[in-house]
Amino acid sequence: MMPILETVDLSHRFADGKWGLKKINLAVGKGQFVVIAGANGSGKTTLLRHFNGLLEPTSGQVFVDGVRVGKDLLRARKTVQMVFQDTDSQIVGETVRDEVAFGPENLGLSRQEVRLLVEQALETTGLQALADVSPHLLSGGEKRRLTIAGVLAMRPQVLVLDEPFSNLDFPGTKMVLEQLMALHRSNMTIVLCTHELEKVAAHAQRLVVLSRGEMVADGPVAEVIAGIEKFGVHPPCSLKCKGRLEPWLS
Ligand SMILES: Nc1ncnc2c1ncn2[C@@H]1O[C@H](COP(=O)(O)OP(=O)(O)OP(=O)(O)O)[C@@H](O)[C@H]1O
Ligand SMILES: [Mg+2]
Repeated sequence: MMPILETVDLSHRFADGKWGLKKINLAVGKGQFVVIAGANGSGKTTLLRHFNGLLEPTSGQVFVDGVRVGKDLLRARKTVQMVFQDTDSQIVGETVRDEVAFGPENLGLSRQEVRLLVEQALETTGLQALADVSPHLLSGGEKRRLTIAGVLAMRPQVLVLDEPFSNLDFPGTKMVLEQLMALHRSNMTIVLCTHELEKVAAHAQRLVVLSRGEMVADGPVAEVIAGIEKFGVHPPCSLKCKGRLEPWLS
């Protein structure tokens, strides 16, 4: 089956001459849940930003559903939605409901269609009760769920998240993780990068490791995680203590 996301020899060099990515070959199948790990500065965010054309390859290609991103940027951005680490900068609406409506309103849909998409996204993320509240009053975890609701309302095939658990406490992390697992069960493709492997390791299928802009490992989580320390990534402590991965949610 054709991958929904694919990079072929993707390299990226920044304006200052520094290489951010070197020859990345990554293919993600529809419905996969892929975690990308790597030390600070290893190139995770740089890689994610190529998936919807926020960055352009210096050499190599990026394909979304078989079409080169640069060839049809609009299509890539409809297919792949991003949730960034800095959630606040993504919030523009006066209420939670307005905020979620912002994306679909810009897709040129009818009012009824927008309303339906918004209500569904609020329901999926469990935010209905907060629909009329100002987004700025939400907690960190609720804001992250709001950002996820906003991108879900655009019905993407792929959800890409950069550090979705950063700054979240236990209930916040649990809510976001449960959300992601539910989306995964409904067959959405999920790619996320995180430093908090213990939270996702037992729930994802595949782990990719970056080190200094290169892809140094790719495989089933349990296999890749065993050798992950040498790339500057802390293995989950459940693995260190008991020799196996414990699901963070059970
Ligand atoms: N615009 C830029 N110009 C020059 N170098 C950059 C630019 N953006 C990022 N870099 C460098 O590229 C490398 C990879 O950065 P990137 O943000 O992709 O890392 P990361 O794996 O996401 O790190 P973190 O875990 O800290 O979020 C870093 O060394 C960073 O300093
Ligand atoms: Mg980053």
